[in-house]
Amino acid sequence: MEDTKEFWNTILDYSGNAMTYTEADFELSQVYKCVDSNQDEQIKDVISMGVADGLREPISILDHIEKQGRVLPSRVVVNDISDTLFDQAKANLVNHGWVDKIGNEVIYFLGKIDEIKTEIVKETKVRLGIIGVYNLGYLKNALHLYQKNANIIGTKFNVYPVYLNNDEDNLILEHGETITFDITNLSDNIINQIHNNVDQSKRLYAQCVYTTDKHFVSHYFNDGLLKEVIHGIFIGYDIDIYHEGDNGRYIVVKLQCTKETGNGITLMTSLNNVLGNITTDTQIKSLRVLKNLID
Ligand SMILES: C[S@@+](CC[C@H](N)C(=O)[O-])C[C@H]1O[C@@H](n2cnc3c(N)ncnc32)[C@H](O)[C@@H]1O
Repeated sequence: MEDTKEFWNTILDYSGNAMTYTEADFELSQVYKCVDSNQDEQIKDVISMGVADGLREPISILDHIEKQGRVLPSRVVVNDISDTLFDQAKANLVNHGWVDKIGNEVIYFLGKIDEIKTEIVKETKVRLGIIGVYNLGYLKNALHLYQKNANIIGTKFNVYPVYLNNDEDNLILEHGETITFDITNLSDNIINQIHNNVDQSKRLYAQCVYTTDKHFVSHYFNDGLLKEVIHGIFIGYDIDIYHEGDNGRYIVVKLQCTKETGNGITLMTSLNNVLGNITTDTQIKSLRVLKNLID
């Protein structure tokens, strides 16, 4: 599947764009809860992956930590695939004072999550991760939203089921048949076709939506199998899943692991369906990179 950088580079006003930006505070409120329930330890590292313009993550999270009068993080890591959004995130970190406050320890990774090789040294006791994605049950609503925003997302749609086909230790994602349509003709019939296109003898991990004219990609996840995959990667972590918001649109996965040595907290976030926006072929590898970043 093609790179989606081209699509994200066209989103020049991420936070002003109702299609891409969400004001649902559900995910952030889950992050704040995690921050608040770990009052005794300093949050040393904040690692935010797929930040877009950076205003939600990491900036809102850093603001929240600061408002509580806590010691500020000593290191902030930010990533995105899009150079234009990334430049905005860098400028926002400067303008919101965070580059002055954190200094040289703001680390930028421009590029695809699955291609990140740098090892970040971690010496903290608590490793926390929050991954926010979209729920399979929201797909129908999402298609209607895409129809209204076809000028941004594109009109030439493809939707295929993604099955989890794990054998022993291997997590393998397999594509089903693709349904192709023009979003301007979206109808109940198309939605039924998508629904019926699932092979019931297989394990549906997600539905993948992509457009061939604008190169947008999104996945809508089956929470149970997502949890199984995350379990298979984040071995030794406690995993909790929360749903909420806007017709059950959001799934928030919280991962936590306590190490025997060190102190403080490493907090990694990847919110608002960043994982969903990653192509199917790099889904598993991207999760493995996220694990290596905090583990
Ligand atoms: C819906 S936005 C979410 C932005 C932000 N995390 C938020 O909470 O609003 C998805 C972001 O993921 C980025 N993205 C997509 N694929 C990526 C990849 N493979 N690696 C890193 N970032 C990616 C996009 O450029 C975009 O900024």
